[in-house]
Amino acid sequence: MTRILFVCLGNICRSPLAEGLFRQHVEAAGLTDQFEMDSAGTGNWHAGELPDPRTRANAANHGLTLAHRARQITRHDLNHYDYLVCMDQNNLANVQRLTAAAKRTGKLILMRAYDPKGPGDVPDPYQGGPADFELVFQILNRSTKAMLQELVTYHTRLTEAGQ
Ligand code: 4NP
Repeated sequence: MTRILFVCLGNICRSPLAEGLFRQHVEAAGLTDQFEMDSAGTGNWHAGELPDPRTRANAANHGLTLAHRARQITRHDLNHYDYLVCMDQNNLANVQRLTAAAKRTGKLILMRAYDPKGPGDVPDPYQGGPADFELVFQILNRSTKAMLQELVTYHTRLTEAGQ
């Protein structure tokens, strides 16, 4: 079982979409029993809310329904998840601050480290328009797909090596 937490600032635009897209790729690959995924924000302003209506509308245009409820990242998350996948450098710096005091934590990585067209930040679309939300969708769709492919390849190599 590989556990993955997607992290952004508000947990209403980027990370719930990353979570939803990763889940969709996992289901399409028939690997639901091998992955656990969730998302969280470094901030708590939107705790309990559904994703932003613009994010949900954009996802719905692509046939994806998002039902995640926003929550703030917790101390427990830091070692429960194998990967803490941050949307931008600010998120990464904030999570790094949290992990500094923790004994054991999951691997901290930027989402676009997996983007075939990356690296870089997943831009925050909150102050933007529909084109910004579509850009985030395209970045996250290909990045989460590539991340799943890489994890599956890694796992296959470990299994073949008898580990
Ligand atoms: P997210 O976008 O981090 O992708 O969920 C944002 C959502 C809310 C705010 C900022 C970014 N905000 O300032 O409330």
